[in-house]
Amino acid sequence: MHLEVDSVSLTYRTTRGPLQALSGLSFGLAEGEFVSVLGPSGCGKSSLLRLVTGLLPPSQGEIRLAGTRVEGPRQDVGIVFQSATLLPWKTVLDNVLVPARARGRVTPAQREDARQWLRAVGLEGFESHYPDELSGGMQQRVGIARAMLTDPRLLLMDEPFAALDAMTREAMMDELLRVWSGTGKTVLFITHSIPEAVYLSDRVLVMGPRPGTVVEELVIDLPRPRTPATMADPRYAALGVRLRDRFRAMPAHTPAGSESTP
Ligand SMILES: Nc1ncnc2c1ncn2[C@@H]1O[C@H](COP(=O)(O)OP(=O)(O)OP(=O)(O)O)[C@@H](O)[C@H]1O
Ligand SMILES: [Mg+2]
Repeated sequence: MHLEVDSVSLTYRTTRGPLQALSGLSFGLAEGEFVSVLGPSGCGKSSLLRLVTGLLPPSQGEIRLAGTRVEGPRQDVGIVFQSATLLPWKTVLDNVLVPARARGRVTPAQREDARQWLRAVGLEGFESHYPDELSGGMQQRVGIARAMLTDPRLLLMDEPFAALDAMTREAMMDELLRVWSGTGKTVLFITHSIPEAVYLSDRVLVMGPRPGTVVEELVIDLPRPRTPATMADPRYAALGVRLRDRFRAMPAHTPAGSESTP
């Protein structure tokens, strides 16, 4: 397994007392696998990503990446957030180079790689534009190029398309699969969207309400490459129905901080 999440629990200390976000979470990702995590709001999905990036230590259990324990931020992990978090005073090209610059001097080869990733995400010609000249979808593409430039073995994505309109979102799904295919990168993709999870993934992990844990795992045995025709496949619909039923059967989530009240 490339990524192993082993019996991980996470409790936040808050002014209202301890808040258990994750409980006994275990799963693994094989190298090159595209796995989505689907779960209700507040079940701990973003917290899980923070643990995997090493920004936050688990309260219990451990996370291993390529066989070594995650104990702090790592260079072999790339992250794409819900909003592109671009620096408004930097050009598109310089935004893509931000992580490279943080690691030292930017080489001409890195600048050329950045241009290539911008081409790959369909932004050729926008290198010297500023973020506020771009649409939301284009800004997200810059975020993807920025993550890819660091050549991460593991790419973490936290609802990267959630803020986009439905049409742009579909286009971005195809864009992401096109960019990802053939890279051999492992992807952990967080989403609220059942169609998105089914369309993109090799496997979908369903988390239950907080404290989050994996309550179901579904293998998406649809052929690749996925195309708009995939959505017409009866198996695509059946997988979506199965996930929807799983969500309907879930209890309503507990309010934050309820552990501290008797
Ligand atoms: N820094 C923090 N301090 C205290 N509690 C937190 C912190 N971050 C998150 N939480 C709590 O942990 C729980 C899980 O939050 P998290 O952001 O991981 O959920 P999520 O599944 O990503 O939700 P969403 O789908 O809405 O993004 C929530 O109850 C939240 O209030
Ligand atoms: Mg979240």
